Amino acid sequence: MQRHASWGSFFNINSREPKPSLQDTKEARTKGTQKETIRITGSMENGAVNGYEMETPKNITIKGILSLLMESIDDDKNHSRSVISLGMGDPTAHSCFHTTHVAQEAVVDALQSDKFNGYAPTVGLPQTRRAIAEYLSCDLPYKLSSDDVFITSGCTQAIDVALTMLARPGANILLPRPGFPIYELCAAFRGLEVRHFDLLPEKGFEADPDAIAALADQNTVALVIINPGNPCGNVYSYQHLKKIAETAEKLKILVIADEVYGHLAFGHNPFVPMGSFGSIVPVLTLGSLSKRWMVPGWRLGWFVTSDPSGMFRNPKVVERIKKYFDILGGPATFIQAAVPRILEQTDEVFFKRTINILKQTSDICCDRIKEIPCISCPHKPEGSMAVMMKLNLLLLEDISDDIDFCFKMAREESVIILPGTAVGLKNWLRITFAADPASLEEALRRVKSFCQRHSKQRERC
Ligand SMILES: Cc1ncc(COP(=O)(O)O)c(C=O)c1O
Repeated sequence: MQRHASWGSFFNINSREPKPSLQDTKEARTKGTQKETIRITGSMENGAVNGYEMETPKNITIKGILSLLMESIDDDKNHSRSVISLGMGDPTAHSCFHTTHVAQEAVVDALQSDKFNGYAPTVGLPQTRRAIAEYLSCDLPYKLSSDDVFITSGCTQAIDVALTMLARPGANILLPRPGFPIYELCAAFRGLEVRHFDLLPEKGFEADPDAIAALADQNTVALVIINPGNPCGNVYSYQHLKKIAETAEKLKILVIADEVYGHLAFGHNPFVPMGSFGSIVPVLTLGSLSKRWMVPGWRLGWFVTSDPSGMFRNPKVVERIKKYFDILGGPATFIQAAVPRILEQTDEVFFKRTINILKQTSDICCDRIKEIPCISCPHKPEGSMAVMMKLNLLLLEDISDDIDFCFKMAREESVIILPGTAVGLKNWLRITFAADPASLEEALRRVKSFCQRHSKQRERC
């Protein structure tokens, strides 16, 4: 393995680093494991499009599939039944999940102060950056500074920043499968080739470091770890995360740690931030208030360089990141201004209550699924808000695959479930358990009766 000249080269600032030609890019593309879904549409340099296929990437998105499923519900036929969605990871759709008064008051006060109606600095308000640095440092063996923190519009924009900073012709990125499809979509827009490493259900959806190493080459820029995991509900142990960090270090690639579900862990393993291993390998930590504080609509996220050895403090890297932020609109200034109070004053009781409900609803989900022979749960979720369930199509008649299953389920039972294909696993299902216990029970009752109706051996279900 040829080693990279410097970590700075990842951020496209090393002018001596030879850039692969367009031909190299094409070859890299044809070697890609996902070339049929990850359409690279040409690279953009110096603001000019030199692409040759100006197409919108054809990637599946969760939102796209969920809206098709919603559209497929026949309102006339199902007028007496409410639609229950176990598809979207938005807990606020269910009344048992709502944010704290502290957060609401902090926003109201910031708004009414009349001090935060103007533009914030493009990288975020200084007090917001400082508060997030302090919040994240509580779980790290070193201290982050405000300069390490950049405020984004939700974790989604942090993903875009990370991939945009790393994209260059011929580069590739290693993504988990199943995963969160925004990464594939973003990579397609940015001309980054995607290579997938499988998460192993029989090993708690851990990644295999050898498989990661086998995928990487001198054009690999980073690997992505989502922990706690969406869609698998995994929470990785300290040891597993360390192994991943050591693998990345050996390969000389960065780790992008998506911790949007940070602290939402209710199983055996506590949540360990990947930044804990920042002295082994530079880590880009992505997160937001969306899930832990139940405010995905506030669009408050962060892109953080968790790197005590200071590789990201190279002035050219910092300048490049800052320039990119100049073209992004971050979250509203008054939301940013509320962050220090939200982070400092949220009561532990609020967090514990959330964890208790998620544990209860994930238990309901797994217990009810045990009563349905054609669906199994190879790994009980230990965190986040979603679980992957495996479909056994051999036990069903007239269901061709997971997509067919989910569309028929929507039409016949008004229950929305995401087909596994949307997150990279055909003939699996992703169920979001961030739902009111009563709605979840009702939805799973309907799933059971659907499966009984479509079972090959009805009497056994
Ligand atoms: C793994 C993962 N990353 C990022 C996001 C986006 O987070 P946000 O809503 O803060 O933009 C989500 C949202 O569900 C997610 O599941």
